[in-house]
Amino acid sequence: MIDAKTKLYGLIGKPVEHSLSPAIHNALFKKYNINAVYLAFEVDDLESAVKGIRGLKISGLNVTMPYKEQILEFLDGLSEEANAIGSVNTVVNREGKLIGYNTDGIGTLKALKRFTEVEGKRVLLLGAGGAGKAITYTLSRLAKVVVLNRTEKKAKELEKFGVKGEKLSKESLEYYLSWADIVINATSLGMNEDKTPIPKELLKEKLVVFDIVYSPLETKLLRETRKFGCLTIDGLWMLIYQGAESFRLWTGVKPDVEFMRKVALEALKSERRSI
Ligand SMILES: NC(=O)c1ccc[n+]([C@@H]2O[C@H](COP(=O)([O-])OP(=O)(O)OC[C@H]3O[C@@H](n4cnc5c(N)ncnc54)[C@H](OP(=O)(O)O)[C@@H]3O)[C@@H](O)[C@H]2O)c1
Repeated sequence: MIDAKTKLYGLIGKPVEHSLSPAIHNALFKKYNINAVYLAFEVDDLESAVKGIRGLKISGLNVTMPYKEQILEFLDGLSEEANAIGSVNTVVNREGKLIGYNTDGIGTLKALKRFTEVEGKRVLLLGAGGAGKAITYTLSRLAKVVVLNRTEKKAKELEKFGVKGEKLSKESLEYYLSWADIVINATSLGMNEDKTPIPKELLKEKLVVFDIVYSPLETKLLRETRKFGCLTIDGLWMLIYQGAESFRLWTGVKPDVEFMRKVALEALKSERRSI
């Protein structure tokens, strides 16, 4: 029941209307009997939105595109990983101080660990955008990572985390696909389109393939690599695990990820029906 003690959490970004986070976090608040609600806020003016968060004492937030980097200048403190990555997807209001975290890297790692060993493995990461950067930071601490990106400069910039960065091309893909144990797609290729970053003729067997794109749930990359005998992991797992980390930061509760996935799948189904 909503009453005068109900705490408010939310998502800020633009657009936010298709986000699964309100469905997932509200279901978790109910499951764990936490008197709180989670709303999605489409924000045009970030600075005034952050003033509003302080003024209304909003307890915690997720931050999505296009504000994950811009929000840094308005916060009072950053976790080690948010500082290193330069991007925030979770804000915790600690007695009036807004502290920024980034749970994308740990979310990816936990999702991967659910299906495979990661320590010491050879990881080929495609994409050096916001998500690619967070994933590189986290995985570079326990695996051997090569990053390929369309814009070479951005891949090279990630070499500060001790990884190798190169331009994404057919030649580099072919070379590193033979080297890798795990391939992660962190480009936006395949999002709401039937495209894949790996041409069919370059596919290799026995790879673990993780596509962080989750719309559609089975991307062309996952469909083709699964048929080729690879172990495939969809992007909803990353969404779930990064959300679980946010929830833990806000509430101290380590939530049930199976339950979160069930809620997310139901929300995806009902969204499809309404479109
Ligand atoms: N599952 C999850 O929880 C989760 C979380 C975060 C993001 N995502 C998804 O991950 C994807 C990337 O997100 P982001 O925040 O990192 O976006 P971003 O910062 O805009 O980066 C986009 C990345 O995709 C690359 N790219 C775009 N079009 C390409 C093309 N035609 N060919 C090759 N590379 C291309 C970009 O390369 P350049 O640098 O050359 O432009 C860049 O590396 C999105 O689809 C997003 O929805 C999922």
